[in-house]
Amino acid sequence: MHNSSLQTFGLSLFIVLAFIVIGIGFMFGIDNPIPWIMIAVLAALPYIHKRISARQYLAWDDKLSVGIESIDEDHKKLIGLINTLQTAVMYPSGETYERQALKEVVDYTIYHFKREEELMLEFNYPDYEPHKKTHAVMIGKVGEFMEAYEQNSEGAICDLTKYLKTWLIKHIAGTDQQYTSYLHEKGVK
Ligand SMILES: [Fe+2]
Repeated sequence: MHNSSLQTFGLSLFIVLAFIVIGIGFMFGIDNPIPWIMIAVLAALPYIHKRISARQYLAWDDKLSVGIESIDEDHKKLIGLINTLQTAVMYPSGETYERQALKEVVDYTIYHFKREEELMLEFNYPDYEPHKKTHAVMIGKVGEFMEAYEQNSEGAICDLTKYLKTWLIKHIAGTDQQYTSYLHEKGVK
């Protein structure tokens, strides 16, 4: 079963069991605290669910800025696309939506890497080669996840989303920020 379907199933099961517990609980008297506790838990469920879901999404932070507008815009766009993928993974959105979200992230990542590499090359950035290599390794890894996904591996899309989230934030906040001062000196804004 798909991970999101499994979660939905688990939640539904919990709700059904909670109602049974409430029903049985009240048979032991209206002052029995257990059914009241269950009612409180049920009432808080949407809030708990919202809090847990929100934590799965990436958010732009000015600390992630590399100080170059076009690159920052690309990174913001990538964060948005990864969040769309996250939605596809978390909710039973259907294969078409899932595939579309996946394709858009991968395509835009490749496009963005090319743009960033061209910028580094244009201004003779000394660490161009190792930086480019980091991009290539990442694309290779994404390719492996995609293969697993095509072979109907259950968790592949979940693992890929997790990988993209961790990789992107680490890369933007680390490797990418290393070129800021060099490119600024060259007049790139
Ligand atoms: Fe980069």
